[in-house]
Amino acid sequence: MSSSTELAPPTAAAAELPRLLAGALADRPLSLEEHFDRYGADRQTAGRSRSGELIELVAAAGLTGRGGAGFATARKLRAVADAHARPVVVGNGVEGEPVSDKDKALLRHTPHLVLDGVALAAGAVGARTAIVAFAAGATHEIAVMRAALAERERHDIDRIQIRVARVPDGFVAGEETAIIHSLNGGPATPTLTPPRPFERGVGGAPTLVQNVETLAHLALISRFGPRWFRSIGTAAEPGSALVTVGGAVARPGVYEVPLGLPVADLLAWAVGPPESLTALLVGGYFGTWVAAEQALRLRLIDADLASAGASLGARAIFALPRSACGLVESAHVIRYLADESAGQCGPCVHGLDAIAGAFERLARGGRDAAGAPAQLKRWLGQVKGRGACRHPDGAARLVESALRVFGAEVELHARGRCQGTRRAPLPLGRAR
Ligand SMILES: Cc1cc2nc3c(=O)[nH]c(=O)nc-3n(C[C@H](O)[C@H](O)[C@H](O)COP(=O)(O)O)c2cc1C
Ligand code: SF4
Repeated sequence: MSSSTELAPPTAAAAELPRLLAGALADRPLSLEEHFDRYGADRQTAGRSRSGELIELVAAAGLTGRGGAGFATARKLRAVADAHARPVVVGNGVEGEPVSDKDKALLRHTPHLVLDGVALAAGAVGARTAIVAFAAGATHEIAVMRAALAERERHDIDRIQIRVARVPDGFVAGEETAIIHSLNGGPATPTLTPPRPFERGVGGAPTLVQNVETLAHLALISRFGPRWFRSIGTAAEPGSALVTVGGAVARPGVYEVPLGLPVADLLAWAVGPPESLTALLVGGYFGTWVAAEQALRLRLIDADLASAGASLGARAIFALPRSACGLVESAHVIRYLADESAGQCGPCVHGLDAIAGAFERLARGGRDAAGAPAQLKRWLGQVKGRGACRHPDGAARLVESALRVFGAEVELHARGRCQGTRRAPLPLGRAR
């Protein structure tokens, strides 16, 4: 997805923002000197010896992963630090989610903050090797990262080896076991767990896979401490987060928001009059459609979004205009997800293709559409929880929310009528 990066915070209330994108320049990444001017040097950055101190800071800050699942970062760090072999750290910058641009925006603007996080995480778990993984098509971000690494080498910043790796483009390629599979010379497809990455990952070593935004937050927590981190956000979901906003939006882009920001505030800034919207797709393609009126009463935290069956997920929000049909747009995404499966487990090979076909019949409308909702409900029950990775569950969540939120359209389509007058195409990834 190509979108601009909004460096300004979406509300005046968020005066402390941006954090991750602070001082970022629109046309080029921050140099090492500019980075240290902006954030200050961190005495711990240079890959220090194994220590629990940073892990305790991260635990006190309550940092959770920004790559989708929202797992407690300190718990992952501890699991890898306690491993009996020398671990490897992987910064996950693959961002296979087509509707998201937040990780690429971060890597384009403040690569040294990510690299500080990589070096610090490596120091905390006792790793001497780290890899920042990108999708092969992210050529600009790869070039930015290589230049940043060369700059650090010239200034002798890191005491660990950090290298860039490319994995093939694709929706599931950013899943952690898929990255490891690819780094170990296989295809970028998920593998069965256990073993989980922290047990056996790159080259058989215990591996910490952490989203690049998570690592950038970690670098700031190391500098400014947990109390500073918690000074925005909510007690249960502290800090800020990068969110990509797209679709029927006046100002599409990547926003850094305090967790807990009312959705209405974000929309007022990014979208314009919310009456022009039917629904929001919250959390990317593994996310959930939420009716616009309901979304306006929620805040951007999982605790609130759960009441609408949603979660922040990939932290991407797509606004569907009233002129477009939610069923037609969903049908394209569901077909995309079916085609993007690694094609190695039953639920994906048989189930997702059939589900995409039934949803396409529903979107086309008419006689074929009438039986589709019942078929879909039956098949969804058969794919959930059955894959090697969460791909079928993510696709099922999207289908279920589309049937729920676009219930009126489902009825109309069964009678051969569609009220959509205009397409609002969701991005469908880079050609592979
Ligand atoms: C199908 C699928 C695709 C994923 N793609 C990405 C991705 O592109 N980037 C990412 O950071 N995490 C992605 N994840 C989540 C990763 O597997 C992993 O949980 C994450 O990188 C851990 O980092 P975090 O704890 O910092 O969030 C994906 C998960 C699944 C199931
Ligand atoms: S569930 Fe689907 S995407 Fe995941 S590993 Fe199996 S075939 Fe691949």
